[in-house]
Amino acid sequence: MPPRLDRLFSPLRIRDLQIRNRILSTGHQTFLAQGGVPGEDMIAYHAARARGGAGLIIVESARFHASSFTDSPELILTSDDAIPGYRALARTVHGHGARIFGQLSHSGRVSRRIRGGLRDIAFAPSAVPDHRFHTMPREMPTEMVEELVAACGTAAGRMAEAGLDGVELVASHALLFAQFLNPRTNLRTDRYGGSAENRLRFLVECLGAARAAIGTRILGIRISAEELEPEGLLPAEVIAACTSLAEMGTLDYLNVTVGSMAGHGGSIHVVPPMGIPPAYVAPQAGALRAATGLPVFVAGRINQPQIAEAVLRAGQADMCGMRGP
Ligand SMILES: Cc1cc2nc3c(=O)[nH]c(=O)nc-3n(C[C@H](O)[C@H](O)[C@H](O)COP(=O)(O)O)c2cc1C
Repeated sequence: MPPRLDRLFSPLRIRDLQIRNRILSTGHQTFLAQGGVPGEDMIAYHAARARGGAGLIIVESARFHASSFTDSPELILTSDDAIPGYRALARTVHGHGARIFGQLSHSGRVSRRIRGGLRDIAFAPSAVPDHRFHTMPREMPTEMVEELVAACGTAAGRMAEAGLDGVELVASHALLFAQFLNPRTNLRTDRYGGSAENRLRFLVECLGAARAAIGTRILGIRISAEELEPEGLLPAEVIAACTSLAEMGTLDYLNVTVGSMAGHGGSIHVVPPMGIPPAYVAPQAGALRAATGLPVFVAGRINQPQIAEAVLRAGQADMCGMRGP
C-alpha cells in the first residue's frame, strides 16, 4: 500500500493566510536576478515550482541596505525599482495557487565583493573577522544600525506593496542578524551589545519596523538552530533568543535550519550534501516548536514525501522545505 500523505497535503493556516499544503520551497539563490530585480527567468523558475504543487515559495534573499554586498547577482530592495518585478512574480505564483514570501538579508562580516582588485569594506556589529572569507569588518556606528532598522522596514513595505503574502528576515547562517545575537561576534558597548536583551535589539527593532510596514501580512525569521562553527551560535542561545521573540508576539513563524556562512564547517549545512541523513534538522526544529509554540518550518535533506510526512506527524514542524533531490 502506498504511504499515506494526509498531513503533507493538509492546508496550513497562519493568521488569515491559508497555505494549500505543507510543501515549502525555501529561499535559495538562483543567480537569476536581472539587474537586482526578479525578471522573466526568475518568474519562470518559481512558476514551475508553484505549478508543481508547492504550497509556499520563499524567494531568495534580497539585500535591504547597500552595506551588504556579494559578487553574485542578487535581489536588491534598496529602492522601489524592484517592486514591479516582485509584483509580476507574486502574481504568477498566486496564479498557480501557491503563496509567496520574500527574504530580507544583510551579510555583515561575510559580505564579499572584489572590484578593481580591491575588496569592498564590510560592516558588522564588531571588528571580528570570519573564518571563511577572512574579512576584517568595520564596526557599524550606532547611527548606521538605526539606518539599517529603517531600511529593513522600508524594504518589507516594498514586498507588501508588490503583493507578497509575507516577509522573512534571514537571521540564520551567521549573517548580520545572527552576528548581533552572538556574544562572540557582537562586542559592542552601545544599546545593541552586551546583555542578551541588547544583542536581540537589532532583530527586534527590524521586526518591529517590518511589522509596521506590512500590517497583518505574515512575518517570520529564518534561524539556524545551531551554527556548527567554533564561534557559532549554540542551541541553548538560539532557543533563548527565539523564546524571547515569541513572547514579544511580533513573529508569526520560525523557519529552522542549521549552519553558518562564516566558516567551511558551517557552510556545509547551508547546502547540505547527500551524505547527510534525511531530515537531520527536524529534532532541533521540534525543540524550537515546543519551546516557542510558534509554527515552525524546517529544511535539510527532506527530499521524499514520506520523510516530510513523518516529520509533520512527529510534531517537529508545520511545513517542510523540500528544495530538491
Ligand atoms: C544554491 C543555494 C542557494 C541558497 N540561498 C539561500 C538563500 O538565499 N536564503 C536562505 O535562507 N537559504 C539559502 N539556501 C539554503 C536553502 O534554503 C536550504 O536551507 C538548503 O538548501 C537545505 O535544504 P535542502 O536540503 O532541502 O537543500 C541556499 C541553498 C542553495 C543550494
